Amino acid sequence: MKKSLDEHADRFSDHAADYDESQNSPEYRACADLVVAHANPQPDDVVLDLGTGTGAIAFGVAETAESVVGRDISDGMLEQAREKADAQGIENVEFGEGRFRDPGFEGNVDIVTSNFAMHHLADDEKREAIDAIAALEPRRIVLGDVMFFDEPNPEDPFYSPEVDDPATVGMLADAFTDAGYAITAVEMVSDQVGVLVAEQLD
Ligand SMILES: C[S@@+](CC[C@H](N)C(=O)[O-])C[C@H]1O[C@@H](n2cnc3c(N)ncnc32)[C@H](O)[C@@H]1O
Repeated sequence: MKKSLDEHADRFSDHAADYDESQNSPEYRACADLVVAHANPQPDDVVLDLGTGTGAIAFGVAETAESVVGRDISDGMLEQAREKADAQGIENVEFGEGRFRDPGFEGNVDIVTSNFAMHHLADDEKREAIDAIAALEPRRIVLGDVMFFDEPNPEDPFYSPEVDDPATVGMLADAFTDAGYAITAVEMVSDQVGVLVAEQLD
């Protein structure tokens, strides 16, 4: 990880109030839409959204899920998410502190989602995170993120090299497979942004 968890948390808290309006790239929107579509929760499903931020994915899946648990390290982002839930009268979402490698949720989880957050971890930490998610035994994991389908063009990075640490699609797919999941869909949004869907093996 190129910054500590506290540094990442502070960085996001400092910009939490402006976060939503800053996320207007076609890649971000397409990725978020694909994560919600692939999560596809049923009315009795509990969804855990990691790196939930201001709740873009959490609110997207809350429409059909039984309940949604959003976890993040940034107090400022979580506060924005809670304010949105209150303002919109959405009662089946709950936001609180938690991290990829220690989600801070003990209950039954059917689907885990994450969008544009895991790339803050180094590759060995991503593996630990994927193992921690698999230990919760969700039937489906949907990961949207910056990820490399090809050698990234150094002139045109869709991320900030000083703080972000994206993985290759192959590394992520191997980590899911090693954790006992099968990759059932790969969506390429651009050569640096994609969505992986992993389903629990029987
Ligand atoms: C770019 S935002 C994405 C937020 C949201 N998922 C979305 O799609 O808009 C990344 C979020 O990941 C959170 N984050 C970074 N590292 C994390 C970690 N190790 N565990 C949990 N959340 C983390 C940050 O605090 C931030 O809110």
